[in-house]
Amino acid sequence: MAEYEKVVKRTYVIDHTPIKMDYLVVGTQLPFDVYTKDKSVYKLTYKKGHKYNHIDRGTLKSKGISEVYVDYEVMDEVNKYKKKTADENPATLSPEKKFEKYTADKENSYYAGRKLLIPGERINFSLHVIRNMEMHDLLAADASNPAEIKIEHIDYDQTIGDIVIKKSDIKHYHNFINTLVKSERHLPGEKILIKNWATIENLKIMMDFLLNSPSNKEVMMRVKAVMSSFVNMVAENLDRIPDLLTKGLNNYFFNVHSVNVAIMATGLALKIGMKPKDAQNLALGALLHDIGISIVPSTIINKLGNLSDNEFQVYKNHVVEGERILQADKSLPDGVAIAAAQHHEKLSKRGYPFKLSADKIKLYGRVTAICDCYDAVTTKKPFRESMSSFEAMALLTKEVDNYDSALIKIFINMMSAINKGPA
Ligand SMILES: [Fe+2]
Ligand SMILES: [Fe+2]
Repeated sequence: MAEYEKVVKRTYVIDHTPIKMDYLVVGTQLPFDVYTKDKSVYKLTYKKGHKYNHIDRGTLKSKGISEVYVDYEVMDEVNKYKKKTADENPATLSPEKKFEKYTADKENSYYAGRKLLIPGERINFSLHVIRNMEMHDLLAADASNPAEIKIEHIDYDQTIGDIVIKKSDIKHYHNFINTLVKSERHLPGEKILIKNWATIENLKIMMDFLLNSPSNKEVMMRVKAVMSSFVNMVAENLDRIPDLLTKGLNNYFFNVHSVNVAIMATGLALKIGMKPKDAQNLALGALLHDIGISIVPSTIINKLGNLSDNEFQVYKNHVVEGERILQADKSLPDGVAIAAAQHHEKLSKRGYPFKLSADKIKLYGRVTAICDCYDAVTTKKPFRESMSSFEAMALLTKEVDNYDSALIKIFINMMSAINKGPA
């Protein structure tokens, strides 16, 4: 090799060119070597052929890296790769396309959260993560290739986003939960927590089905059948209701919202001394309060920004539709439909759909309205940051015209009881 070529070659080898880290698309195989720069040294970080995953991306981000490096020689490969992945790369999609993709991904996803995804357990379904309106793979697994959950999948930097599974994997997830409950590998204290979370998760799964097909009689029967054990579970944890709530960091899922509202409403019912049978009926009503939401198009539910007047009219119909569905089901106890019908009414007559006055708003409606408001404002939506628990309670305290102030007092007392019991 001529001396000149040697110099050029050497220059190319040590002289790398930066590309944006965002060009690397999670889930793709990298067709070139990728380097990172540590002080002035280039370090081969991902070899050609490496499948770039969510954890890789998280590692780079946590180090504050926004650019990686490739050899000059492979720039053609880089450009080809960029073109090929343009449709899958959230970083290069237009905002409209990105939102469209996010809505579709979210619709096909079930929010699993972290509570039962215990490190060391093996799963036969894949985990994904939704963060900042982007969905990424977290852990690939199926029946023939089960995988072990590792701590970095679950706790990674706490900024990982919301852990979801594909809805087509719900049955595997359900089996996983049932096996976990029966497992003898956990300590007695852990077993109780697992049992509580399993009760909550199973209700979330049923609500996911029911919100999509609200007239499904079989699922409705199964929901009714578990309400008494659900109320017992809440009663056993009455001094730490906030610990029972699941919450996505980034996304709003109606099944999660429904179960959260049911937990708080049951807690409040028991705190005010409601008889167990009445508390059970209220729990069911609170659980089903948004059952009419399936008539609202997902473009309205997931819309970025405020709804237009017309869109808000369509949205409001979920209340009347919910009441219609629940009243049509003669097997449901009295009062269940009231919780749904009155959950957006306000004592000031400024609620909807009927702007009812205080004397017309029943106890089931009053309790559900408070719990619904609290959960709605403490959950992040694509267009709005969430309030902290403290801010939400301050907001409710100011809304004395709208909500029952005696109930608000007890509610705030109940929700301030954070971390009283064992974690
Ligand atoms: Fe609602
Ligand atoms: Fe709601």
